[in-house]
Amino acid sequence: MNSTSALKKNPIKNQNDFSDVKGAMVNEQTPPAQSEVEERIEEIQIRGYTLIENVYTQEELEYAKERISSIYSQQVEALGGEENMLEASDFNIARQLLVYDDFFLKKARHPLVMEILRKMLGDYFILYQQNGNIHQPNTENTTAPWHRDLTFYHYTSSRPLAMSCLHLITESNESTGGTPMLPGSHKIDALPTYKYLEKNQVLIPAPAGSVWLFDSMMFHRSGFNSSKETRYSINHMYTLHLMTQQISLPRMLNGKWQDDESLRGFLGYNCMQQGSVESWRLEKINNPRKSVKY
Ligand SMILES: [Fe+2]
Repeated sequence: MNSTSALKKNPIKNQNDFSDVKGAMVNEQTPPAQSEVEERIEEIQIRGYTLIENVYTQEELEYAKERISSIYSQQVEALGGEENMLEASDFNIARQLLVYDDFFLKKARHPLVMEILRKMLGDYFILYQQNGNIHQPNTENTTAPWHRDLTFYHYTSSRPLAMSCLHLITESNESTGGTPMLPGSHKIDALPTYKYLEKNQVLIPAPAGSVWLFDSMMFHRSGFNSSKETRYSINHMYTLHLMTQQISLPRMLNGKWQDDESLRGFLGYNCMQQGSVESWRLEKINNPRKSVKY
């Protein structure tokens, strides 16, 4: 009798069965998630991002492409031509889309995304920006270098300061370029070496209509579009209210939705920069924040 058949006839029962992936030799473990929101928060906290699929219908994707292009053309014209956009290093970005079309406001308030944001940022956060990115085929884009959306921040915090939500209007893959990300990098101060980036970056294919929700401190970049089609995406940044929008949505909206309790805080009406001490005080009198629900 050889040793193999002996084992078959008389298998030795291993007292420590390590075949169960749910086994762990630890003293502490996060309790099981009670909801999809909690599951996704665990992903964001550890690796920096989560993917939510089916946020857009096919018709909405087509509509979004068309509107991003037309709003960009409008903004180019307002600045006196694309050469001025190049001069401002802001070409191929259509900014603050919701000011031009309510469709984008609805998309900025996707219910699952909002629920996760409330849990991660608290009740008082604002929409800092909503940009439509146009990645032309075989063309460099200003978002190509490695960056975090809170650009030039080189320290970490125990809770997120801002969250980004990148809507993929075009499919993300090796050919269209997508969004290479560095998992876990929202917890480190400095950008790692290029060697580390090259080895550890991930480019996860994702269908059009899905969204990446990620900690704005996670390092990422936009990949080079070597396909024949323009790649569109919309990036949202949601921040704690103490970060003032660089392009004021309230001023662009000119009072629109300022009396809507569900929107005024979100759009930044309650934390507008004021031009003088008097106007700041008057704004406090006219807008008693404590009575406002977010
Ligand atoms: Fe970015």
